[in-house]
Amino acid sequence: MSESFHDNAVEEIKSRCNIVDVIGQVVSLKKMGNNFKGVCPFHNEKTPSFVVSEPKQIFTCFGCGATGDVFEFVKRYYNLDFPSAVERLAKEYQVDYSNHFHDDGKKELYYQINREAATFFYKAFTQTQNEGLSYMRNRGMEPETLKRFGIGYADEQWDSLYKHFMSKNVDVKILIELGLISESKGKYYDKFRNRVMFPIINTRGKVIGFGGRILGEGSPKYLNSQESAVFMKKNNLYGLNISRQEISKENYTILVEGYMDVISLYQSGIRNVAASLGTALTENQAKMLRRYSKNVVLSYDADNAGRAAALRGIEVLRKEGCKAKVLHISDGKDPDEFVRKKGKDAFKSLIQQSLGYVDYKIENLKNRYNLDSYEESIEFLKETAVVLRELGPVEADVYIKKLANEIKISENAIRLEINGNNTQVEPITTPPLSKYGESDRKAQQDFSMSISLIEKNLIKLMILDYKYYEIISNYERVFKTDYAKNIWKAITELYEENEVDEKEIDLKKLQDGLEIAEVSILTDIIDNVQLADKEEQVLMECINKFEWEELTEKENSLLTRLSMADEEENQETIKVLTEELMELQRKKLGGDK
Ligand code: CTP
Ligand code: MN
Repeated sequence: MSESFHDNAVEEIKSRCNIVDVIGQVVSLKKMGNNFKGVCPFHNEKTPSFVVSEPKQIFTCFGCGATGDVFEFVKRYYNLDFPSAVERLAKEYQVDYSNHFHDDGKKELYYQINREAATFFYKAFTQTQNEGLSYMRNRGMEPETLKRFGIGYADEQWDSLYKHFMSKNVDVKILIELGLISESKGKYYDKFRNRVMFPIINTRGKVIGFGGRILGEGSPKYLNSQESAVFMKKNNLYGLNISRQEISKENYTILVEGYMDVISLYQSGIRNVAASLGTALTENQAKMLRRYSKNVVLSYDADNAGRAAALRGIEVLRKEGCKAKVLHISDGKDPDEFVRKKGKDAFKSLIQQSLGYVDYKIENLKNRYNLDSYEESIEFLKETAVVLRELGPVEADVYIKKLANEIKISENAIRLEINGNNTQVEPITTPPLSKYGESDRKAQQDFSMSISLIEKNLIKLMILDYKYYEIISNYERVFKTDYAKNIWKAITELYEENEVDEKEIDLKKLQDGLEIAEVSILTDIIDNVQLADKEEQVLMECINKFEWEELTEKENSLLTRLSMADEEENQETIKVLTEELMELQRKKLGGDK
C-alpha cells in the first residue's frame, strides 16, 4: 500500500483517539502511576504484564514482547492488515477515509501520466536526431548512462507533448496539475521546451516529476516540475532509485547538488550517489538516506553557496543520526567537472580527505577569523567552544590539544571556555591537602583525567548547593567511574545526615570519607571546574547530554541487534526492535542534543 493514501487519515486518527480508550474496550486496564496495566490479550498470563502508556500512546507487553501504537494494537487484536486497521479506527472516530482512498487512485493515474511523458521524451531523445542527445554527448555522457537514467528530450515546438496526450484522451487539468502543460488565454502549451529531460523517479520506481536543462545558455537553466500530489521536493532525492543498493553496499552516500553530478559520478564508476534536487537538504531527505546508510559525504559545489549548503546539511544530517563528512572539490566548480577532468580515483582520494563534523566546522571558523590577531583568536575560540561542548570528554580532549597548539592558547583556558567560564567567580576555598603532601600534582592530574567532564560538573554542582543535589540525586547512573561513584555516595551520606535547615557540605568531612585518589579528584574539581554563574545552564546541559548519550547507546545496541537478526527467522524480533528503535529516535528528536 502506498504511504500516501493513509498518511492524512493516520494523523487525523492519532489526533482524535486515545490508545487507552481503544484498548480499554477489550482489555480491563488499571491505572498504575503514569501508565495503565492489564492482562495481555496476546498471550496467556495470570499476572498482568501488559502496559499502556497514555503520554506515549503505545502499548508494550513485558511478557511476550508485543509492542506498538494504536494501529498495531487494532491490527493484532482484530487480526487485520494495516489499511483495514486504519479503516476501522477511521469509522469509529469519524475520520473521512473514502477521500484518502480516492487520493490513492488519483495518484496512481498521475504516476502513469508522468511515466507516459517520460517515455515520450525518451523516444524523442533516442529515436530521432536531436539537439538534446548531441548536447549530452558533448558533455561526455555515454549512451549507456543516458539510458540508465532515462534521459529524454523536449523539443522546441509549443505543443508536442500536449498533442500526444490529447491523442490519448488525457484530461488536460491533470497535465496542468502535474506541471507538464500550461494554459494561457485559453491556449495550452508544453511547459518543457528545448530541454534535456531528467525524469525524477522515487524508490518505488514511480516517475514523480522532471528536471529539464536548457540546451546551452538560457534561463532558467533548470526547470523543475512544480510540486503536485505526487511530487514533493523535500521528500525525494534524485538518483536514489538507481543508487540505493550501491549505497547500502558501500555503506555511505555521496550527496551532491545537481542532476549532472549524479550522472557524471555514476558514469565514472562512483555509484553510491544521490542529489538533493537543488534545495537545502531537508529533514525528510536525511531520514531517507539514513535508511540505506548513516554515513553521508556531502559533495556540494565549490562556491560559497555550496559551502553554506554543506554547513546546513551537516547539521540536518547530524540531527537525524547520520554521520556526515564534507568533501572539498579542489579543481573545477562541481563534482561533475572534477570527475570528468580528473577521474574516479582522484575523486576517491577527495573522499578520503573529506572532513568530519567537528573538523569541518572548525575549518570554517578558521577561515572566518584572522588567527594572528589575539582578539580574533578569542572570538574564534568562543565559537569553537560551542562546537566542542557537544562532544564527549575524550573526543573533546583531542581537539583541545590540537587547538592549543595551533592558536597558542593554553589547553586549560580552552577547557574553561568550553565549561562556560567567562566571568570571575569566587572560588570555593579548599582545605589544604596536608595529609597527603603537595608533591603529587601529576598523580592528581592523572586521577582527574579518569573521570568525565559531566561527572565533574555534576559533583561540583552537588557540593555547591543542596537544590542541585536534589535534582542530580535522580541521576546516579551518570556516575560511571568508581571514583565518581564513591564521591557521589559520600556527598549523599553527608547531605542525608544533615538537618533539613542546614543542607551544606562540610568539605573537611567529605574528604575524610574518601580514598586518596578520590580526594585528589575532588580537589581538582573544586579548584578547576568553574561554572561562573551559569550553574542552571551547566546542569541542564549535563543532564541533556547524558540523556542523549544514553539514548544513543541504546540506539546503537538496538542497531547492532537488528543487524544480527536473521530476516527470515526473526521477523517478530525485528519488528519489535524496529519499533523500539523508532520510539527511541523519536525521543532523541524530541529532546535537545
Ligand atoms: N537547480 C535548479 N534550478 C536552477 C538551477 C539549479 O533546480 N535554476 C538545481 C538543479 O537540480 C541542478 C542543481 O540545482 O542540478 C545544481 O545547480 P547548478 O550547479 O547550477 O547545476 P549544474 O548541474 O552544475 O548545471 P550544469 O552542469 O548543467 O551547468
Ligand atoms: Mn555542473
